[in-house]
Amino acid sequence: MGRVALVTGGTRGIGESICVKLKLKGYKVVANYGSSDRVAQYFTEKTGIPAYRFDVSDMGSVIDGIGQIEAEQGPIEILINNAGITRDGTLHKMPAENWDAVINTNLNSCFNTVRAVLKGMRKRQFGRIVNVSSVNGQMGQYGQANYTAAKAGVIGFTKAVAQENAGRGITVNTIAPGYVDTDMVRAVPEDVLQKIISTVPVGRLGKPEDIARAVLFLIDDDADFITGSTVSVNGGQYML
Ligand code: CAA
Repeated sequence: MGRVALVTGGTRGIGESICVKLKLKGYKVVANYGSSDRVAQYFTEKTGIPAYRFDVSDMGSVIDGIGQIEAEQGPIEILINNAGITRDGTLHKMPAENWDAVINTNLNSCFNTVRAVLKGMRKRQFGRIVNVSSVNGQMGQYGQANYTAAKAGVIGFTKAVAQENAGRGITVNTIAPGYVDTDMVRAVPEDVLQKIISTVPVGRLGKPEDIARAVLFLIDDDADFITGSTVSVNGGQYML
């Protein structure tokens, strides 16, 4: 059996695609989810991948959840921080709870999960961590001060943790997806979304598999010289 890989927010959208691709490659995949038992049950029936419910924004919940996964499935050697939410709206009207919810779920979650798996990875001298950011963390986005701050934070976090653990066989990288065809993106008002798509040189939304492919590349055992990088998968929407 392959290495144990945990994908947060893994039961639908980009996370689901990552789970499926990793399983096909022989990894022992475990999904985390935050709210819908019904979706998680359907996901597990369809894919055979176990799903564990815990709140990535809460340290206690993460420690319990990861403890249970490691007891039941083995040590986590690969961590994909994919869970994320949006609470879009312009800043002058943004309630503090929408700021907090997005920072906690999209950025503090990375602290919580990485902190929980890092000790084991350092001891075993192997680890692959991929944090999912966003093109909007790189370029900013009208109506997303909370989301862009969190996703830009993920990029800085990745670089710091990559430096700290490079000597221990652990790589830490960011993937910055563009607009991908998921429920999250489909929630953007249609006229706004069409305008955004018109700025994408490839001329379409991304597919979840486009992101999953990049994850597979970064977590390979042989990808040990790639760390602290930000891999943009955005159809050319933003070129750094
Ligand atoms: N640049 C400049 N002006 C813009 C604009 C932009 N990008 N987007 C909207 N506006 C303008 C509108 O044209 C409108 O102008 P008028 O009043 O002159 O008609 C005005 O802003 C509306 O402003 P409001 O403050 O009233 O906006 P609102 O409270 O209705 O909120 C919004 C609008 C929620 C921000 C809405 O525009 C929206 O949902 N935008 C999309 C945000 C987005 O791209 N989210 C990405 C979600 S998917 C994701 O995050 C995944 C990922 O990683 C890529």
